[in-house]
Amino acid sequence: TLDEVRTALGDCKRCKLCQGRTQIVFGAGNPKASLVFVGEGPGADEDAQGIPFVGKAGQLLTKMIEAMKFRRDEVYICNVVKCRPPGNRNPEPDEIAACEPFLKAQLASLRPQVIVGLGKFAVQTLLREETAISRLRGQWREYQGIPLMPTFHPAYLLRTPEDKKLVWADLQLVMKLLGKL
Ligand code: URA
Repeated sequence: TLDEVRTALGDCKRCKLCQGRTQIVFGAGNPKASLVFVGEGPGADEDAQGIPFVGKAGQLLTKMIEAMKFRRDEVYICNVVKCRPPGNRNPEPDEIAACEPFLKAQLASLRPQVIVGLGKFAVQTLLREETAISRLRGQWREYQGIPLMPTFHPAYLLRTPEDKKLVWADLQLVMKLLGKL
């Protein structure tokens, strides 16, 4: 169960991100969710609150979820790395490798109908390939037999609002699969 995964994570010191964190940001939402979002890692707001996607990018993600005709508490949201990288730098390969077993265990427990991968770190980690997110987005893939839709990260959309229409098209494919269109 997710509680067992959280217990196994404990007061994690498996990588150097433990040094700068306020708290672990494990994940939030419905453990029975049909739809799971995977992001990159906590930022300052998430590190302070212990909840994923509660800052500026998180507010946009919440709007995206609601546009998909879900409530935020119906879905499940987590990240590739559970601790904030200092200064919001990218997570490093050793940090991703240390945290990946816990992401895998979360998804194995959740077994959603669909996973949405938000940005290159989520998608490249789940697929174990280095293809650019600009090439991967909008095309169905599979993670452990579960349909995976790669799309752009909401933080990218805050900088590049012209690309919101591409993400909306990707999310509509997800809605179609889940019977929401
Ligand atoms: N960006 C992410 O990738 N994850 C969060 O939890 C917040 C912002």
